[in-house]
Amino acid sequence: MNIPVLTLNTGKIIPAIGYGTARVNDGELETALDFALKAGYRYIDTAYYYQNEKVIGKVLNEWITQGKLRREDLFIVTKLPPFGNYPEGVVKYLKQSLKNLQVNYVDLYLINIPFGIKDVETVPHPALTGGPVEWDLKTDHLSIWKEMEKQMNSGLTKSIGLSNFNKAQIEMVLQHCSIKPSCLQIELHAYLQQNELVDFCKKNDIIVMAYSPLGSRSVTSGNAKQGLRKTNKPLDEVLRIFNMLCLSKYLIFRVDLPDVLSNPMIQKIAKKHSKTEAQIVLRFDVQRGVIPIPKSSNEGRMKENIDIFDFELDEEDLTDLKLLDDGTRFLDFKDAEGIEDLPEYPFAN
Ligand code: A2P
Repeated sequence: MNIPVLTLNTGKIIPAIGYGTARVNDGELETALDFALKAGYRYIDTAYYYQNEKVIGKVLNEWITQGKLRREDLFIVTKLPPFGNYPEGVVKYLKQSLKNLQVNYVDLYLINIPFGIKDVETVPHPALTGGPVEWDLKTDHLSIWKEMEKQMNSGLTKSIGLSNFNKAQIEMVLQHCSIKPSCLQIELHAYLQQNELVDFCKKNDIIVMAYSPLGSRSVTSGNAKQGLRKTNKPLDEVLRIFNMLCLSKYLIFRVDLPDVLSNPMIQKIAKKHSKTEAQIVLRFDVQRGVIPIPKSSNEGRMKENIDIFDFELDEEDLTDLKLLDDGTRFLDFKDAEGIEDLPEYPFAN
């Protein structure tokens, strides 16, 4: 399958759709990634925090050594964890990610989240195993960004970018950087279209990537996946939120949240184009110049999600879809006690 590409402000090209891997656990991921590569996904999105880089590295390495893929065919994205949000943390965690992924460069390295957790010597970091952890109240984006630039100049990453930053935080980086961020990865779906941020990024030549493009189905009542369960014993308040972000083990269902794919308007447009609801919302992203990163462990749904380049939403569809934007944010991290008092908490309003 020929997947269209976009060009980053570094001149590098990136596929117009990615394969997301947050909350896909190791056992499942090995098979799932194999399916994803067979289905045609070449942009693979992970993070140190997801704790699945080693499995991804193993599968990618097998494909490369068997001659089924070349490294340059892939676009590998990983992210600096929140406990790496200090200048020395950048090279420390980037090098660990490269080792896990069995590559000598990544295509894009992102700062995962604008606020920080204090780093400790313990491996794995307690944030990944149930705490205790301490907030870092002194996260300094500019000194972290300088290190990100250094790593790009040294070739360990081809492009650099941000994730979960708000407009003011991005502006601050833009005002002081030598190398502009290439991408911004944020929660974005039919109920949270992020128009202001998308327009701002367009003006600044930053490409937006959408996580949870199907509306966080693994968190909401729309979830159909086995293995994720409601937990009656959440971990301490601080960790709950990070678990919600990435770790299926402790994932908390939010049955109170709306399911994007059951929306009657989306269902109507899907019927009109003989496509699925998922294909409609992913195509909507593509037509806005946004790169969706859907997650699935199911081969059929993976194929479905990438099969969105043979039709076009018309003006009427776009007008209808725009009406669905009501600002519903599924991942605001607010469950974590004290988080809204952090100077770098991004979703204050
Ligand atoms: P599955 O892995 O069984 O396909 P999000 O990233 O928004 O949280 O979405 C991920 C969730 O959406 C997963 O639970 C995944 O389940 C489900 N999903 C992925 N693709 C589709 C699709 N095309 N239709 C319905 N659900 C999907």
